[in-house]
Amino acid sequence: MPHAPIIARTLSSLHRARTELGKRNATVGLVPTMGALHDGHVSLVRLAKRRAKKVVVSIFVNPTQFAAHEDLGSYPRTWKEDIAKLAAEGVDLVWNPDAKTMYPEGFATRVAPEGPALAGLEDRFRPHFFGGVATVVAKLFTQVRPDMAFFGEKDFQQLKVVTRMARDLDLGVRIVGGAIIRERDGLAMASRNVYLSPEERRIAPVLFRTLKMTSKRLQAGDDFKIALADGVTAIKEAGFAEVDYLEARHAETLAPISTMDDGPVRLLVAAKLGTTRLIDNVKG
Ligand code: PAF
Repeated sequence: MPHAPIIARTLSSLHRARTELGKRNATVGLVPTMGALHDGHVSLVRLAKRRAKKVVVSIFVNPTQFAAHEDLGSYPRTWKEDIAKLAAEGVDLVWNPDAKTMYPEGFATRVAPEGPALAGLEDRFRPHFFGGVATVVAKLFTQVRPDMAFFGEKDFQQLKVVTRMARDLDLGVRIVGGAIIRERDGLAMASRNVYLSPEERRIAPVLFRTLKMTSKRLQAGDDFKIALADGVTAIKEAGFAEVDYLEARHAETLAPISTMDDGPVRLLVAAKLGTTRLIDNVKG
């Protein structure tokens, strides 16, 4: 019977618990999260449990990755349910600092990722985002000192950014990507899906259907520009208010590509349904 994880809220309690976990050279895997856990997070925890002896999950809604107009205040917070899920998975330690612990008075350092962080995808629409993510993830790594860290492929550009950062800064953490977990109708699981009205929730799977259809067309030899433009039209016609991007990129470098020969291809999309911004991606 798995028991409740240790919960650390101060750096000193984290360090004590981390020292215990690392005894007898046990490997430690970290799953960084902002809480509001869904099956996508649970699958990352399970992946971490398979790869590492001990598993730490961080829950911290990171203010530095939200712009002033975004949903920091209303971001879903489901602490009790989160802990119940993590206990059921046999997680060893939950790191749950508050904002003052992460960003104490006078905090004045920010990691400024380049390369994949400037690929012209999420960064075009959320210019503050990857600086905030890189800063908090670098802090989580130095605080928890994991051997491995697990990030979902749903945030594909984020996965590339943290992988690059871990290498560039010699952080000694191996980054492992976990597959996207989808609802039965194909919608990629995301904490923000709870914002969707019933009508929007019905429309939302169009994003994944369009990605699959576009991928099929590219594989069949269709012109990239035409297939992508048709995809944008299909998403808009389904009721999405705006399509920020639907693009074919190199799956490793995120460089723009226009033929299958330039691949491996990743198709990435971001679009707004009502006021909710959804992202998704598939292999091209
Ligand atoms: O993907 C997320 O939930 C967040 O961006 C992360 C990696 C936990 C950093 O706050």
